Amino acid sequence: MLRWFQPLFALLSSALVTRGHGCPSSCLCPDQHTVDCTGKGLIRLPDPIPLDVRRLLLSNNWIPWIPSDFLVLYSDLVYLDLRNNSLSRLEPGTLSTSSRLVYLDLGSNNLTEIASGTFGESRSLIKLRLGNNPHLSTVGRDAFLGLTSLRELELERNALSGLDVGVLSQLPSLRTLRLEGNPWVCNCHFAKLFSWLTENQHKLPTGLEGMECSLPVVGRQVTLSVLSEDSFRECRGALSLTDYLIVIFSGISVSVVAIMASFFLASTVHCFQRWSKANKTDEEEADD
Ligand SMILES: *[C@@H]1O[C@H](CO)[C@@H](O)[C@H](O)[C@H]1NC(C)=O
Ligand SMILES: *[C@@H]1O[C@H](CO)[C@@H](O)[C@H](O)[C@H]1NC(C)=O
Repeated sequence: MLRWFQPLFALLSSALVTRGHGCPSSCLCPDQHTVDCTGKGLIRLPDPIPLDVRRLLLSNNWIPWIPSDFLVLYSDLVYLDLRNNSLSRLEPGTLSTSSRLVYLDLGSNNLTEIASGTFGESRSLIKLRLGNNPHLSTVGRDAFLGLTSLRELELERNALSGLDVGVLSQLPSLRTLRLEGNPWVCNCHFAKLFSWLTENQHKLPTGLEGMECSLPVVGRQVTLSVLSEDSFRECRGALSLTDYLIVIFSGISVSVVAIMASFFLASTVHCFQRWSKANKTDEEEADD
């Protein structure tokens, strides 16, 4: 219902508000498609923003919230800068509407989580900045699923202690990744991320030297460059629940195959025996 309503609302609003006119008071509109409200002490989104805005600069304000139909309404947005505001959460669906967005800066806010599906299928997005959110400790397994054009991802100086490597391997166009300044813990969960980072060091602007993690038990901080795959060798012995399930199921399928094979073999032998018996009887009959 809402899905249908939102585009309709956008259409109605665009019919009512004259497109391309009106600059929010206290903001600057240097050209027809740019609205610049940088550092204006705003505590909410400015009003009215022209519906055909393409570049919206809102950094260095106190904006705590963006409505979930924001990108439906401003569907021409290519560049959205919300750096250094007070965003603490993103309403589900806010950024998932198919859009033209190429650049999105949500750095230096107070986000705590990037949930799976946050960006939907934002296939145009090339640069996504999420660094300097000091309480950002959770990134969902599919948080960046569908961001097929994303080249630059910034997650530096957040509160991440671990990250599912699937989050990164889902990004086919990734060239630059910033992960430094997080409280990484080099435990067994980190092992897969470590191999990915080792293989993709060239994507890290500060390299493995620029990333630190704390070692479990001893709690000492080390840079990733002093570790090797071998540092995680103890993790290889430990099987996860999935591993156990795979082992059990492959055991079962091996048994099933073995049973079917012996059944097949048994029936072949049986057929052969009957056939040779029949042959023999024929021969005996012929002898008689
Ligand atoms: C963040 O915005 C506030 C409010 O405008 C400003 O005082 C502060 O200097 C900004 N911080 C940075 C790092 O730009
Ligand atoms: C940021 O979020 C944390 C955790 O939700 C909260 O404790 C803190 O007060 C927030 N800080 C600001 C400046 O809003």
